[in-house]
Amino acid sequence: MGLAKAVQLEASKSGQDIERAAQALREGLLVGLPTETVYGLGANAWSESALRAVFAAKRRPFNDPLILHTSAASRLGEIAAQIPPQAMRLAEAFWPGPLTLLLPRTPRVPNLVTAGLPTVAVRIPDHPLTLELLRRLEFPVAAPSANPFGYISPTTAAHVFDQLGDAVAYVLDGGPCRLGLESTIVGFDEGIPTVYRLGSLNIDQLVRVVGRVGQRQAAGAAPPVPGALPSHYAPRTPLQIGHPPQPTDPRWGWLSLKTRRPDLPPANQIQLSAVGDLEEAARNLYAALRYLDSLNLTRIYAEPMPDSGLGLALNDRLRRAAAAH
Ligand code: TXA
Ligand code: MG
Repeated sequence: MGLAKAVQLEASKSGQDIERAAQALREGLLVGLPTETVYGLGANAWSESALRAVFAAKRRPFNDPLILHTSAASRLGEIAAQIPPQAMRLAEAFWPGPLTLLLPRTPRVPNLVTAGLPTVAVRIPDHPLTLELLRRLEFPVAAPSANPFGYISPTTAAHVFDQLGDAVAYVLDGGPCRLGLESTIVGFDEGIPTVYRLGSLNIDQLVRVVGRVGQRQAAGAAPPVPGALPSHYAPRTPLQIGHPPQPTDPRWGWLSLKTRRPDLPPANQIQLSAVGDLEEAARNLYAALRYLDSLNLTRIYAEPMPDSGLGLALNDRLRRAAAAH
């Protein structure tokens, strides 16, 4: 979509009108939703046609299941058939927040949501507008990140309009996302909490609540989580992890935590956090990738992040962005 059209659409179809968003969802339409992690493309999870519209808008394959969003753990009964004790402890510690739990599904949950899997992904997001919206609704909201399949996740309402403006009836504008990286997904393989996707919640934080935490193997030939496909979260411009070789080319971009490259044009560079703060870096990552992608560079070089805490999730996203090319 052209920029002018996106701006027009944005003016007529976005704001803080929770009731308008609720009404659109009740009618089976799609709504852009702010969360603390990234913006979601929300749909009534009990409506097959609304769910189909989500897959169509994103051009997402049906074998990639969706996350359900609800307002309170007391409403889990219609979604999850059973809640393992460790799941309960994590929910108490981190909800509302950037934690998605994989739980045994109830028969009520449509196959389209789970891609036929026996588990369903669910979370309570931590954003005041979306929480109030979810409280008003009679159904959970299925919401993948509001980006075309495989592209960079949106962290502002404008990002949603840029690419999915035509698909949404409304975007609830909750400002820039506070965390900026998707939720951490935790499943329970034989009862043991297991990280399926790194995200805004660190492994250390999980370990403090449940002790041992397993980790699914990094995406290989048969990734267990479609979101763990290697080519995900990717800009269109080829991205490579590491420093650029010499001599450099002025059409190359540079993405780093805080180091500058005097040998590349300043306009082609983003430092994610001048003070090297990983939370700030996470908040800025996706907007930075979108910006660099908009410059029509021939290549983006990205400096690896420190391999601890949130740096692990940041490196995971950079690797997936790089794997697309
Ligand atoms: O922070 C987030 O989680 C954002 C906001 C909007 O809540 N949502 C999000 O949704 O990132 P999405 O669809 O972009 O990524 C969800 C991931 C997908 O990779 C999907 O494969 C995985 O969750 N997933 C969903 N249900 C699953 C299940 N039953 N088993 C394994 N993976 C599942
Ligand atoms: Mg996504």
